[in-house]
Amino acid sequence: MTGSKAALAVLISGHGSNLQAIIDSCNKGEIAASIRCVISNEAKAYGLQRAQQANIPTNVLSHTEFSDRKLFDDALANLIDGYNVDLIVLAGFMRILGADFIKRYEHRIINIHPSLLPKYKGLDTHARVLSAGDKIHGASVHFVTADLDGGPVITQESIPVESSDTAETLQQKVHRIEHEILPRTIGWFADNRLRVVDGKVFLDGKLIDYTNHS
Ligand code: GRF
Repeated sequence: MTGSKAALAVLISGHGSNLQAIIDSCNKGEIAASIRCVISNEAKAYGLQRAQQANIPTNVLSHTEFSDRKLFDDALANLIDGYNVDLIVLAGFMRILGADFIKRYEHRIINIHPSLLPKYKGLDTHARVLSAGDKIHGASVHFVTADLDGGPVITQESIPVESSDTAETLQQKVHRIEHEILPRTIGWFADNRLRVVDGKVFLDGKLIDYTNHS
């Protein structure tokens, strides 16, 4: 870590409720972390206002201003490096990052995903859970690798799917657990409790394995 607290860059594209959960956890002293910057690829992302209200520096880096993905990734890396952070948190960041970017920050990028990975990588997870008739659903935090939503899972929590649930109600329920597991994971990272060895995650030296989750 660069200091007594883990320095974070939080990347968003939208509403920023997960960002808010991280801000609140930092402010309450629940985790030994502080947010150095919030970066959005969307100028209208409401999360930018949340950051400003918390006196956190904000930046907009619009992917539309770059002719290709690599140039966007390079500009993003330059911006992040100016803040000297320990961990990059993707909190609803809706851009795919290239392999070079990911390698540069190996084991230092985490993402929150609204499903019980490895099930339902990608988009529209709540609707897909409903059409499959699944009885449980949930959210995962994982280290980011070049395999989209396929990096090793650090933690996840589940919720029951009720017959009355819609994609909207599932989204609300999943958000609630996301707001718990994302700050919790950042706390583990900040306390130096996570290791990645050969693509496997260890918490306090114990292997975390969600690969056989069904
Ligand atoms: C969350 O559901 C997260 O899992 C997904 O995007 C959503 C972001 O929500 N990657 P918010 O912007 O944090 O409210």
